[in-house]
Amino acid sequence: MIDLHCHVLPGIDDGPATIEGAMAMARAAAGGGTRVMVATPHVSSRYRNDAQTIRRLVGELNPRLQAEGVSIEVRPGAEVAITHVGELDRSELSVLGLGGGPWLLMEPPFQRSFTRLGPILLDLQRRGHRIVLAHPERCPVFHREPELLETLVDAGALTSITAGSLVGAFGRQVRRFALELVRADMVHNVASDAHDDRDRAPGIATELERAGLAPLADWLTREVPSAILEGSEIPSRPQASAPGGAQARRRWWSGLR
Ligand SMILES: [Fe+2]
Repeated sequence: MIDLHCHVLPGIDDGPATIEGAMAMARAAAGGGTRVMVATPHVSSRYRNDAQTIRRLVGELNPRLQAEGVSIEVRPGAEVAITHVGELDRSELSVLGLGGGPWLLMEPPFQRSFTRLGPILLDLQRRGHRIVLAHPERCPVFHREPELLETLVDAGALTSITAGSLVGAFGRQVRRFALELVRADMVHNVASDAHDDRDRAPGIATELERAGLAPLADWLTREVPSAILEGSEIPSRPQASAPGGAQARRRWWSGLR
């Protein structure tokens, strides 16, 4: 599996404070079947990280993993706050993509109201950036305006939901929304968004299994993320594999209201 969203780099955001903590996370991820972790530290007004620092830390962590026999490869990435993207210059934004590729992992705001969400993302897409939305199922704006999420997906955005959301780690409403998104064929990836090796650990496979999504696991956690990292065409979702699909798309949000 490829974990497209995790906070594994030490001392850079609200992930592990030390390299030992990062190693513990990587060991836990390897134990759960992950082989590649894309390090996606926050790039936000609170955590003003840059691509150069992220790459340096990735370059320090990989040899340590190899030396200790942990079968994990860490690749650089970032989780860019939508509320902060206006502060970043064009050249910086172009090197913050997942695995150094064209796809940016964008974090929607958690506040209840944020009217510029759609315009900012559509503008990024118009400027040629490719968007992966981090945990849209946890964003109050999308709960209130699911049509906006559909517009963004129709405009080419992909969604990456958090494994824990599928099993209630963020409450019933988030779980329900996440499952509705899967049914409506609006989820392209499931990632851990892990921050440590205990409370927000790097689990993915168990959560997919518990949510009844094992038939989609390979597509969600290997095929799509590998295309994202390579910048190649995103493979379409396997037919007849799991609940929902394209036929569930029409007015998918009506059940949420
Ligand atoms: Fe995150």
